[in-house]
Amino acid sequence: MNASPSADTLRAALAGLLDGLPPRQAARAVERLIANYRGTTPTDAPVLRDRSDVAAYAAYRMPATFEAVRGALGALREAAPGWEPRTHTDIGGGTGAASWAVAEAWEDEPPRTTVLDWAEPALALGRELAGSVLDAQWRRERIGAALRLDDTDLVTVSYVLKELTPADRTALVTEAARVARTVVIVEAGTPDGYERIIAARTLLVEAGFTVAAPCPHSGACPIEPGTDWCHFSARVSRSSLHRQVKGGSLPYEDEKYAYVAATRHPVTPVASRVTRRPQIRKGLVQLELCGPDGLARETVTKRHGPLYKRARDVAWGDAWPPEDED
Ligand SMILES: C[S@@+](CC[C@H](N)C(=O)[O-])C[C@H]1O[C@@H](n2cnc3c(N)ncnc32)[C@H](O)[C@@H]1O
Repeated sequence: MNASPSADTLRAALAGLLDGLPPRQAARAVERLIANYRGTTPTDAPVLRDRSDVAAYAAYRMPATFEAVRGALGALREAAPGWEPRTHTDIGGGTGAASWAVAEAWEDEPPRTTVLDWAEPALALGRELAGSVLDAQWRRERIGAALRLDDTDLVTVSYVLKELTPADRTALVTEAARVARTVVIVEAGTPDGYERIIAARTLLVEAGFTVAAPCPHSGACPIEPGTDWCHFSARVSRSSLHRQVKGGSLPYEDEKYAYVAATRHPVTPVASRVTRRPQIRKGLVQLELCGPDGLARETVTKRHGPLYKRARDVAWGDAWPPEDED
C-alpha cells in the first residue's frame, strides 16, 4: 500500500535528502538560500537554480510551508465540509509542500494535482519526494501576464506572491479566479504578507468569490492599514538542520502565516475568529476576535460556565464561539 501523505511521511521523504552532505555544508546551503531570498525578490530567473538549492529549500522550509497550508485548508474545510476537489493546481508549487497538504486534507480521495513552477530542479525534486504518495504531474510554467490555466477545482498559491511583481500577482490571481472553484493563497505572516493577501482577497471578491476563511464575511477587512496585520501560527517540529542553522534547543518553532481561502461554492464562514493567542489569566480568558461587526475583545470568566472551559481550550485561529455552543 502507498504511504499516506502526512507531516511524518513528508519528514521521512525529506530525511534522506541531505544524506551524504556534511552537516556544515547543508547549513551553508540553507544560509545561502536565505540570503538569496532576502536580497533579490522578485527576480527575473529562478532562485532555486540547482539540486543543492532545492534540497536546502525542501529540507529547511517544506515542513513549515506544509503546516501553514494545512492550517488554511483546515479552516476552508470547516467552512465547506461537503466540498471535495477532484482536480488541483499548485501554482509556484516548487517542491510540492502545498500539494502534500492538499493530499492530506482530502486523504480519502485526494485530487489529481498539477504542480506548476518555472524552476525545473524544484519540480524534479518535488517529483522525487512525492514518489507514489501524491497523484501529481509536475510541469514547467512561468507565472506572468501570459499564464493560461486549465479549469480546476482548487488552486493553491503558497509563499509565491512575494516573488512576483505586483502586475504578475494580479495576473496570477485573476487567472486563478477565472479557472478555479476555490482558491487558497498563503503568504508569510508578516505585515507585507498580509497586505499581499488583502490585495488578492479583494481581486477574488471582485471576481464573485465568497471568502470562506479566515474572515467571517467577504466585506472589507476591519484592520486599518498599517496598524496591524491578520496572521496565524502553525507549530512545526524542528529538524537537526534547523537547530544547526538557527541554534537554540527548542524541539519546535512556530511558523507565522497569512492566508485567504475563497470559493464559488456555498460556504458557512465562522461567526468570529480568534486572531491572537488567547490570554489566559486566573479565572478569565481574553479573546481578540474578528467578527461580523469588526474587531472585538471578549473576556470570558468563570461566571460564563461551560463557555469558560471552551474559552480555555480555544486556540489562535479557531472559530468562536465553538460550533456546538451556538
Ligand atoms: C518560496 S517558494 C514556495 C514553494 C512552494 N509553493 C511552498 O509553499 O513550499 C516560491 C516558488 O515560486 C516559484 N516562482 C517564483 N516566481 C515564479 C514565476 N514567475 N513563475 C513560476 N514560478 C515562480 C519559485 O521557483 C519557487 O518554487
